[in-house]
This record gives sequence, C-alpha cells and structure tokens, in this order.
Amino acid sequence: MSAPIRSPEIKYTQLFINNEWVNSQSGRTFPTLNPCTGKEICQVQEADKADVDLAVKAARAAFRRGSPWRKLDASKRGQLMNKLARLMRDNITYIASLETLDNGKPFGEAYEDIIASAETIEYYAGWCDKIHGQTIPVDGSFFTFTRHEPVGVCGAIIPWNYPVLMLVWKVGPALACGNTLVLKPAEQTPLSALYMASLIKEAGFPPGVVNIVPGYGPTAGAAIAEHMDINKVAFTGSTEVGHLVMQAAGRTNLKRVSLELGGKSPFIIFEDCDLDQAATFAHAAIMTNHGQNCVAGSRTFVQESIYDEFVAKCKALAQKRAVGDPFDSSVQQGPQIDEEQLNKILGLIESGKKQGASLQCGGERHGDTGYFVKPTVFSDVTDDMRIAKEEIFGPVQSILKFKDADEVLQRANNTSYGLAAGVMTRDISKALMMSQNLEAGSVWVNCYDIVKPQTPFGGFKMSGQRRELGEYALQEYTEVKTVTINFPDKYT
Ligand code: NAI
Ligand code: MG
Repeated sequence: MSAPIRSPEIKYTQLFINNEWVNSQSGRTFPTLNPCTGKEICQVQEADKADVDLAVKAARAAFRRGSPWRKLDASKRGQLMNKLARLMRDNITYIASLETLDNGKPFGEAYEDIIASAETIEYYAGWCDKIHGQTIPVDGSFFTFTRHEPVGVCGAIIPWNYPVLMLVWKVGPALACGNTLVLKPAEQTPLSALYMASLIKEAGFPPGVVNIVPGYGPTAGAAIAEHMDINKVAFTGSTEVGHLVMQAAGRTNLKRVSLELGGKSPFIIFEDCDLDQAATFAHAAIMTNHGQNCVAGSRTFVQESIYDEFVAKCKALAQKRAVGDPFDSSVQQGPQIDEEQLNKILGLIESGKKQGASLQCGGERHGDTGYFVKPTVFSDVTDDMRIAKEEIFGPVQSILKFKDADEVLQRANNTSYGLAAGVMTRDISKALMMSQNLEAGSVWVNCYDIVKPQTPFGGFKMSGQRRELGEYALQEYTEVKTVTINFPDKYT
C-alpha cells in the first residue's frame, strides 16, 4: 500500500450522462463536506427529476436493439469489465484518497474497499458469458427453452458508508447481465462515484450504459424510484427510505425492487470459545468503519460465566482505539459521516446512560471539530433499551448477558431486522443449531463480517428484499423468457 494523497485533486463534479460531463438542468449545485472539519470540499452539480429523465433516456437508448451495447458479445462485455477493474487497481491510491477525504474512513480501510470493489467487478466479468437458460422437457410435441435476458434500465440508489463498494455491488451484476444503469450516489459522498464514471468511459463502455447523477434523496432518488421507464431499482440505505422506494415502485410501474436495509445484528459469544479472539472479533464487528456498517455486530451477547472478563477485554480494546486524522496510518477511526449522524449517535448514547446501561468508556464526542465520536462500550444492556433495539450506526458496543443457547436464540431473533448474526463457539453441534435457527441473511461462525464477491448477501425480515453478490444476484438483473416451439415428431 502506497502513502495516501492528502489533498487529491478533484477532477469531476458534473453529472455523467451518455458518457458526457454535463451541468444540471436547474443550474443548481450542492456542497460535499469533509467530515473531519465540516468544511466544504467542493460544489457538485445537483441532479433532480429533469436530469434523471435525461439519464434514463440515455440508458434506454443504449439498451435498444441494435445498439453497440446490445450487439456486443458477452465475452467482450467481460473484457470491458476486466479493463475497468484494471483501471481501478492502477488508480487505487487516488481513489482511496478521494474516498478518505469525502467519507472520513481511514485510508487503509478505503484501500481495502477499493481492492474488494475491483474483485467484485472481476468476479462479475467472469459471469458475462456464463449466463444461460435451460432446455425443458415438456408434455406434448414441443421444444421449450429459457433465455436469461437483461431486465433493461436499472436504477441504483446507494449510501455513503461504502461509496465505491456499494456502487460495484450494483454495477457489477447489472453489467454482467447486459443491462444499462442510472445510479445516484449519496449526497454526502459523490466524488468517488464520479471518478468511477471517468474510468467506465476510459474502459470503453458505450455511451449511456452507465449514467451517474449525484443529488438528494427526495428529489433525484425519488425520481429514480418513481420512474416509469426504469425496470428495476436497487436500494441500499435506511429501512425508512426502503419503505418509500417500494411504495414508489408499487404506485408507478411495478418495477422490480431489491433492498439492503438496516440491522441490529447479534454476535453471540459462548463460554467455550477462544476469549481473546472473540473479544477482538466483537470489537471489530461493531467498530469497523466507525460502526457505519449495515451488518455491524451491534448486540454483543455474552454467556454469563465469562461476562465480566469479556466486558473488560472489550473496554481495553475500545480505549486503545486510535481516533483522529483518517490519512494518518496509525489511526483506526475517523469522523462519522455528518452532523445528522453525529447527533443521532450522541442521542442514543444519552438514552443508554438514562436507561441504566453501564458506560465502560467513551460516551461522548471526540474533540469539537468534525464529527468524531469516542469509541463507546456499554455493559449491563437489556433488551428493552433503545441501544439494544435501534440501529445506532456509530462506534457504540452494547454488551448483553445470557444464560444458555435457547434463551439467546429467542432474544437474538426478537427484532424486526434480520441482516446478519455471528456465533463464537468450539462446539460444532451448537454452531450448526444456531446457524440453522438464527433469522439472518448471513451467519458467521468463529468469524464476523466475511463478505466476498462469491457470497450472497441480504436480509431476512425488515433488513431487506432479495440478494446481492454471488450467483444469486444474477437473478435480480435478468428476466427469464420461456420459448416454446411446436415440434411434431414426424418427417414430411
Ligand atoms: P438514507 O436511507 O436516507 O440514504 C441512503 C440513500 O437513499 C442516499 O443516496 C439518499 O440520498 C437516498 N434517499 C434518501 N431519501 C430518499 C427518497 N425519499 N427516495 C429515494 N432515495 C432516497 O440514509 P441516511 O439518511 O444517510 O442514514 C440514516 C440511517 O440509515 C443511518 O443512521 C443508518 O441507520 C441507516 N443506513 C443504513 C445503511 C446500510 O448500509 N444499510 C447505509 C446508510 C444509512
Ligand atoms: Mg436520510
């Protein structure tokens, strides 16, 4: 890993439509802020409905029969995607620096995000010419086969916590299946997505295949969710907005919807595990990316016999966590994304104190500039407290006590969320029993937050709809067409 660029040049601030850089129709711009200081980095062109309409027109034209994109062999699509991944790897220091500047995450973590993003594009590049249907024996004299065709114009609305990674989770499978896209990055972090647009153009994707329209949720985001000429929308963000996206699809064109929403994921520590390893994993499960992680292990359930010792270990780890300038290689935690998130987290910390949880460390803002929060550990947390029920999305560990497997299973599942869960135990039967009964889209045993391009990812219950990543994601981006041919079994 090379040294970061502390002040990366801002190269692109316009909308990317039809492989061109354009200003917004309204002429409006919006600021993107440095979360370390709260100061403006630059102004970005602000897309709204009119711009989304233009982007959809470009994406639709790129999808029409006979267009360069539709005529391209599937293997050539894979080559373009591999070229894009190559460009990402070639420019990794710049992209990671831009991400750190705009998002505030430590440069090392931003760097890892970009590697994972390139790997995702490479994984889906490999799928391009391996997507095919079936031949189906049917009753009567008919020959039936299926074709897996692209869905069409896909909308994507993504959050600010993993700006490039969330982009490739949508763009990767969508392009592999031959779709075109209109993507809106989060208003807090538009810069890396715009740079990705420049790489998409450089890689040689035809105009209109990928369009990127930064702007706000209720305007540009809603215009995507409501658009009559978008065939599918993929959303990652809050459960609250997930409802709105689904409603918008329901009252307009019934576009397909996939949702990756919030979580309150349990990480369950049994007394028979390796305690030091479990404490390290549980700490990372909640603190990684400043707690701004949909799968954050935000309820640490610890068996009663090891509870006190475990709490002490978590406290020591949190107190050691280095908070500060995310460009500094010794720093593990930068600022939260914005003032709204800072206030939400501080409010939930106050609720924990008021409702009787024991504050072990942290519990307040770090410094008075930017949006930093001290790594916080609460013990003696009970199921009824807000910090045990609501998604905090900050560096706040809530440690709960349990007696046995049946009890913890019932409590772990007693939530409207179901994104992820973790179990630490040396007992294989217990691990299997827990994995079978936890209501979550991902269960990690003796590890946490292991997400790879090959692993399907998504939520049970109100954590979402459908799956991203892996082969499963291809279903989201393809329509199945059944072709049946009358085929009498005789010669004339
Ligand atoms: P959000 O859900 O409002 O924003 C996510 C994306 O949705 C952004 O691109 C935003 O512009 C867009 N959006 C907002 N309103 C919209 C609308 N009416 N129609 C269409 N798109 C819209 O999330 P926000 O406000 O940034 O964070 C609030 C909470 O959501 C966080 O505290 C956290 O609990 C959760 N969250 C979960 C994420 C995840 O990875 N599952 C990511 C970000 C936030
Ligand atoms: Mg919001």
